[in-house]
Amino acid sequence: MVIVIDFGGQYNQLVARRVRECNVYCEIYSYKTDINVIKEMNPKGIILTGGPNSCYEEGAPTYQKELFELGIPVLGLCYGAQLMQHILGGKVERADVQEYGKTEIKVDTNSPLFKDVPAETTCWMSHFDYISAMGPGFKSVAHTKDCPVAATENTEKRLYGIQFHPEVLHTPEGTKMLYNFVRNVCGCAGDWRMDSFVETQIQEIRAKVGDGKVLLALSGGVVSSVLAALLAKAIGPQLTCVFVDHGLMRKNEGDEVEGIFGPEGNFDINFIRVNAQERYYAKLAGVTDPETKRKIIGEEFIRIFEEESKKIGSVDFLAQGTIYPDVVESGLGGESAVIKSHHNVGGLPDYVDFKEIVEPLRNLFKDEVRKAGLELGLPEFLVYRQPFPGPGLGIRIIGEVTGEKVRIVQDADYIYREEVDKAAAAYKAEHGVEAPWMPNQYFAALTNMRSVGVMGDERTYDYAVAVRAVRTIDFMTAEAADIPFEVLQVVMNRIIKEVRGVNRVFYDLTSKPPGTIEFE
Ligand code: XMP
Repeated sequence: MVIVIDFGGQYNQLVARRVRECNVYCEIYSYKTDINVIKEMNPKGIILTGGPNSCYEEGAPTYQKELFELGIPVLGLCYGAQLMQHILGGKVERADVQEYGKTEIKVDTNSPLFKDVPAETTCWMSHFDYISAMGPGFKSVAHTKDCPVAATENTEKRLYGIQFHPEVLHTPEGTKMLYNFVRNVCGCAGDWRMDSFVETQIQEIRAKVGDGKVLLALSGGVVSSVLAALLAKAIGPQLTCVFVDHGLMRKNEGDEVEGIFGPEGNFDINFIRVNAQERYYAKLAGVTDPETKRKIIGEEFIRIFEEESKKIGSVDFLAQGTIYPDVVESGLGGESAVIKSHHNVGGLPDYVDFKEIVEPLRNLFKDEVRKAGLELGLPEFLVYRQPFPGPGLGIRIIGEVTGEKVRIVQDADYIYREEVDKAAAAYKAEHGVEAPWMPNQYFAALTNMRSVGVMGDERTYDYAVAVRAVRTIDFMTAEAADIPFEVLQVVMNRIIKEVRGVNRVFYDLTSKPPGTIEFE
């Protein structure tokens, strides 16, 4: 295992993900973590992340010098690199020229960090301080026009520092540099793989659960589906999945979930589908305020789950789809503060009679959850499903939700996704790479607006559908995707022809901020 010590930078989870992409397991810990805890874990390597501070300032995050004397290889990134020098006798100062963005860099290919990296390459810089002098035993192994020490090393003590960010995609050789550190310098074997993860988790779940009963609220999203599949493989019929169809899912989705996990599917579990569509529509009748809608949808879910779990009686375990970013963001792991506003199944534990929680996915990133899903035999369409909000179409229908409006938005959304997927597949087949406009999230929404149109010789007065597609990395900021106009035209024609009640289609160009990804 490699340990990532978090100094509060924005890319910290990305560092951990890249390390795992090198098939090396790693975990993130705050810089406040006691050194004895780190020593006990006996990691093969330590990575210090970036952070927003200046290491020479009073009260800036720091670490004991002993960390560098354990004989464990250490790699500092950005702030981490500066801090290493600051502690080990070098000097860090405010730079005259602040480097930000893609920067040309020359690296010393004799350095173990830069094995197989071209001598001249590009890196992503983001710093206002720089290393003006190195501590004893260190030498510079990379430089840019404005930064004489873009990387340092003390090979004898196996201490390394990189001023730029190898973890971001803008540093094209970055993953190779991290690979060089964890696999070559630290000597990690690289045997962290999803098949072995699935196998060990199955054993662990069996050991923990014994012959106990486990209850899971299955939403049909990626995480809860992978969790269901994993538990199903481990304990089969000891698992009961409750799937609440709130009538706000995408077209056919309820039946797809039932097809996979229900009696006709491949898993030998208890599957309870609650068809609560009418119940939800009744609760939502006349409600237009977005937050009130969210609240009603969330509360109704808890009521239904409570009723179902009463029927089942007491269970031994409640399964939860906690994943690693939740663990880090809740402050148990790392340092960087992320404000999390959406919880799909918030508050469930209070309403169910159970003894313990099982969270077998809590050490995985979302992309690893997907890989585990494929290992478990889940279909690709499910595993690579785009994000879908807990309140579902309830927040993609502006204003009051009705069964009729749900039908309209479901049908329009289905056509839109089908055409985008088709165009994306055609692009890939022709060019061998993913289309540059391929969105991370794309869907139709129903505006609450009706307008006049003409169809045949008839005047119409129908709804306007809005289609949206965004490109985003973190879903905190996003840009409208540049879907080819021909594709949008096909979408518009098909929606108007095939979806009764729609006579206009808008394409949403708004970025986030100022817009949000969803409409409500
Ligand atoms: P916004 O609309 O906030 O969306 O820009 C950012 C991401 O979060 C999803 N989203 C939600 N997910 N419950 C959820 O589980 C919600 O209430 C909710 N609202 C937005 C949205 O789909 C996007 O991926």
